[in-house]
Amino acid sequence: MNSVRIEDAVKRFGSTRALDGVSLEASEGITGLLGPNGAGKTTLLKVLATVMSLDSGSIEIFGRDPSRHRHRLDIRRRLGYMPQEPGFHRSFTAFEFIDYVAILKEMTDRKARHAEVDRVIALTGLEKVAHKKIKALSGGMRRRVALSQALLGDPRLLILDEPTAGLDPEQRLRFREVMSRLGEERSILLSTHQTEDVAALCPRVIVMNHGKMLFEGTPKDLREVARGSVWFSEARAPEARLSWRTGEGVHRNIGTAPPGANLVDPSVEDGYLLLLGDEAFIEAAWRRSRQCAGRPWFTGRYR
Ligand SMILES: Nc1ncnc2c1ncn2[C@@H]1O[C@H](COP(=O)(O)OP(=O)(O)O)[C@@H](O)[C@H]1O
Ligand SMILES: [Mg+2]
Repeated sequence: MNSVRIEDAVKRFGSTRALDGVSLEASEGITGLLGPNGAGKTTLLKVLATVMSLDSGSIEIFGRDPSRHRHRLDIRRRLGYMPQEPGFHRSFTAFEFIDYVAILKEMTDRKARHAEVDRVIALTGLEKVAHKKIKALSGGMRRRVALSQALLGDPRLLILDEPTAGLDPEQRLRFREVMSRLGEERSILLSTHQTEDVAALCPRVIVMNHGKMLFEGTPKDLREVARGSVWFSEARAPEARLSWRTGEGVHRNIGTAPPGANLVDPSVEDGYLLLLGDEAFIEAAWRRSRQCAGRPWFTGRYR
């Protein structure tokens, strides 16, 4: 049975349609939601985590309807949620905070609960800082505290909003390891704006923008979107929508390739950028500008 089924979901904030007719189903495995800021990812995950209701459309989680009180309780008992901005009690230690959430999750037996808290702390590699105050932890470690509390009780459905934001490369690898193991028997829905995450981790990708789903498929399918549209050149290609100088000194161009272009195998990011068009180009350009600050790298043409 599908863990999650959502149909024609609409959620408005004033005149903004944060969700504009989203339909999706998810069962076991990892589904990655990819999209730029403001795409509607957090709104969709909040709805699935039963912390927000829809204006219209229908939703079913484990065959239950979250708008019904009894069903909602049932869903929440089987759900782990890592919000994008968790409200930490900053003077708690990591252990105390996770233990506090465990109490809210109805784990009443102290000994068993502490064992479970220790388990999720070990899973996310927080042993060494478990007894430090949250306010003294780095951003990446706080993300891991947020992830730990979502893993309490080994929920069947995990909803993770930007779980890799602020993680360094080593932490990111560790996260992938933990997730790929968990994803084998659970449904995991995670959001990210990093194509590397979905390429490395998610057998299924959904690309969103402006509250709509633009794409659904495997990372390979997403890569194929850009086949024939990525090429290298010595100089900047005027016909490219996005062009930057790579570390090897040649230009990588994305757009409508000119005849005879030196086409290359596309990446997942190329597919994503082509699919989203200008806005994603601007965001990617901004990211690249931070990666190669001070280098003459970008000749973006937004059209
Ligand atoms: N509580 C809110 N009040 C007003 N607008 C909101 C609220 N939450 C989200 N939005 C708007 O809805 C859109 C989608 O936001 P969000 O779901 O946070 O996107 P994402 O997580 O993909 O960045 C954005 O335009 C955002 O400004
Ligand atoms: Mg978000």
